[in-house]
Amino acid sequence: MRNLLSIAAALGVCLAATLASAATPADQAAAADRVTKVCQNCHGPNGNSTSATFPRLNGQQADYLTSQLKKFRSHSRDDPHAMAYMWGMAAQLDDNAIAGVASYLAAQKPTAPQTGGTLSAEGEKIYMEGVEADHVPPCAACHGDNGEGNGEFPRLAGQHADYLKKQMEDFRSLVRTNDIMHANTKDMTDREIEAVVSFLANE
Ligand code: HEC
Ligand code: HEC
Repeated sequence: MRNLLSIAAALGVCLAATLASAATPADQAAAADRVTKVCQNCHGPNGNSTSATFPRLNGQQADYLTSQLKKFRSHSRDDPHAMAYMWGMAAQLDDNAIAGVASYLAAQKPTAPQTGGTLSAEGEKIYMEGVEADHVPPCAACHGDNGEGNGEFPRLAGQHADYLKKQMEDFRSLVRTNDIMHANTKDMTDREIEAVVSFLANE
């Protein structure tokens, strides 16, 4: 009996945890309202921005969006644009609000990449196979065969070219801190960056 009671108690705890993490209709409405009134001013309708200063967020992975918003909030993503634009934004979001906007944006239709540029074929080879001589691993291993991302590995397909290029350069020079992406970019040439971006991006 004692055992049954403790199992029942444990199940109760699990159920409470599930309920606490599930987004209520009110949370979803608050997230849609926040994206439309605040985020859209820079990131565009549904996160599909028109300027390369502001990354596209439509169809981005929810776990990646969550991790970046928490990094802005804790100031561990501290490149100049992160500081200038996103520290103040993220300071206003609690964990619940972050989960809400992340799932709202992840559910928006992603922008398709615009392949076929002059360096696109060269970029596709780097993306799928890496460049052993320059210690560049295949990007597809983490970012997916179609650049769609996976969990905390961001979607890259359809992102603005100039934004992607700047992030690669910032990882390489340690302006944006990330051990994995620094190791991947530290020996990349400008041409390799340009090629892989031209394969993935949509202006
Ligand atoms: C005043 C303009 C502005 C507003 C408003 C704004 N952002 Fe941003 N956001 C930016 C800029 C600029 C960047 C790129 C930062 C960088 O280059 O490091 C960015 C980056 C991001 C990123 C990282 C994306 C990536 O691919 O790494 C996320 C996530 C994000 N913003 C979410 C939001 C959310 C959610 C809101 C609304 C609560 C919001 N932003 C409102 C300007 C803005
Ligand atoms: C071992 C896994 C791994 C491999 C391989 C990898 N990446 Fe990444 N990449 C990551 C992670 C993790 C992040 C998120 C970093 C962070 O949290 O700031 C990231 C972030 C990025 C970003 C930033 C996207 C944004 O929205 O700000 C770009 C651009 C990028 N990677 C390009 C590439 C390219 C191009 C390659 C191949 C040359 C590559 N990555 C290979 C793990 C990987």
